[in-house]
Amino acid sequence: MPQRTGRFLTLEGIDGAGKSTHVGWLVERLEAQGHAVVATREPGGTPLGEELRRLLLREPMTHDSEALLMFAARREHLDRVIRPALARGEWVLCDRFTDATFAYQGGGHGVPIDRISELEQWIHGDCQPDLTFLFDVPTAVSRARLDRAESEGRALDKFEREAAAFFERVRSVYHARAREHPERFRVIDSTRPVDAVRAELARHVAALAAR
Ligand code: TMP
Repeated sequence: MPQRTGRFLTLEGIDGAGKSTHVGWLVERLEAQGHAVVATREPGGTPLGEELRRLLLREPMTHDSEALLMFAARREHLDRVIRPALARGEWVLCDRFTDATFAYQGGGHGVPIDRISELEQWIHGDCQPDLTFLFDVPTAVSRARLDRAESEGRALDKFEREAAAFFERVRSVYHARAREHPERFRVIDSTRPVDAVRAELARHVAALAAR
């Protein structure tokens, strides 16, 4: 296995938490600081992963199948994109990763957390994010944002159409994960204006670069 020298950043949060607003900005900022950046997403990031994403976001399936397919896509992504980029010394900015499986399939859909932990150990026990931004908003705020997007003509996917109670459970597992892994999680209050959020992201990224 090649030695890992880059930095691995992940972005998390319930749907409508606003993380997408910051991805392009973060990439530009990191590149301006001289880092080579690979921006990618899960599920997705490889041709097979994107095919699985299409199925995962549209098709009804059992909750176990959903968890397994998330990890199948992740395995491809890790081996073909994430690990090689880190080995080249690049920064990988990944829009969602395994914390999302704990939150959505575990919290949202009730897949046992120890099953997800076993899959995590199997697929990437040796490779964890260095930093995880958890974009946090109350579920009512995210629902209002999603409803607005829908009224403007965007079709919502399978997860985005879930009920408020689902998102409450997802958010609560995200918070639990942040408490369990304080060394890598930074909880970002995403109800604030974009500039305030970016100032905070910039501080955390600078601290990671200095490590
Ligand atoms: P996105 O809308 O942020 O691109 O994420 C796609 C959806 O996939 C989002 O609703 C969360 C969901 N998801 C899971 O349920 N489990 C996972 O492991 C991942 C990576 C995403």
